[in-house]
Amino acid sequence: MARTVLITGSSSGIGRATAEVFARAGWNVAATSRRGELTFPRMAGKVVTPRLDVTDEQTIGGAVEQVVAQFGAIDVLVNNAGYGLNGPLEGIAPEQLEHQFHTNVFGLAAVTRLVLPVLRERGGTIVNVSSIGGRLAFPFGCAYHATKFAVEGLSESLRFELLPFGIQVKLVEPGGTRTDFLSRSQQWASHPAYEGPLRRFQEMARQLDDRLPGPEGVAKVIYRAATDGSSRLRYPAQPGPYLLLRGLLPDGLWQRLVGVALGMHAGSPRTVADQGR
Ligand SMILES: NC(=O)c1ccc[n+]([C@@H]2O[C@H](COP(=O)([O-])OP(=O)(O)OC[C@H]3O[C@@H](n4cnc5c(N)ncnc54)[C@H](OP(=O)(O)O)[C@@H]3O)[C@@H](O)[C@H]2O)c1
Repeated sequence: MARTVLITGSSSGIGRATAEVFARAGWNVAATSRRGELTFPRMAGKVVTPRLDVTDEQTIGGAVEQVVAQFGAIDVLVNNAGYGLNGPLEGIAPEQLEHQFHTNVFGLAAVTRLVLPVLRERGGTIVNVSSIGGRLAFPFGCAYHATKFAVEGLSESLRFELLPFGIQVKLVEPGGTRTDFLSRSQQWASHPAYEGPLRRFQEMARQLDDRLPGPEGVAKVIYRAATDGSSRLRYPAQPGPYLLLRGLLPDGLWQRLVGVALGMHAGSPRTVADQGR
């Protein structure tokens, strides 16, 4: 009997590529998205495309109901929906930060909570799409990194809670991947005090995007994490050299390396008396 996967954020990038990998392998696929009604080429598995906004519990509940009515069960949940808010913390408005957490963390938690009663019926796997940015941090990513570090902690705890139910929790940690992430989906905050370094950072991000690998490799890692039957938690996907370097280099050297790459040098600390002027 075909198994069923529900994927969030399937309209583009990693989510869409993941839907295609599962469908080619003959799975029933619920490729959910905020606008719904996506089109996919005909593949071995059946694909349905319910509307699901991770910040709207009604749409989550509706999508889960529809998928269970259509396929009878959910075996794998892929929490993929997310976006990056970049810019200096001083320039981030509270509502921007809240929306970043609503989507990347609270949304993931809400979908998981509403899918769990179905998953508990016969066991399964939850794959949370984190990032190498859930294990290390680059400048101007306070908001995004905070959400992905949160996803790592949530997943690492949840895996223990769900062991008795035969449900595995997996973390897939992509490195830079060419999707809509660095273009359409990306949001920026700014502040005049950080103008120069922020401009350099934005320019580097733009140049990097063209050289990144596409999302298919990450989708295959998600498929492997969902189906390998192991108790392994973390699956880096196209991580580049950064995770390795962060683990190998002493902290001070890592800080200098990232600082030099982005032209962010240490200023001279002013005395308390100077700061009062
Ligand atoms: N690309 C990278 O370099 C990279 C690296 C590490 C981790 N990641 C992670 O990979 C995941 C997928 O990103 P991507 O690279 O494939 O970027 P993407 O092409 O921009 O896809 C992001 C998806 O998330 C969806 N989404 C955003 N807010 C949503 C909401 N409230 N409810 C439901 N869906 C929502 C978007 O839907 P709409 O079409 O409606 O906007 C889109 O389908 C994200 O969690 C991201 O943090 C990406």
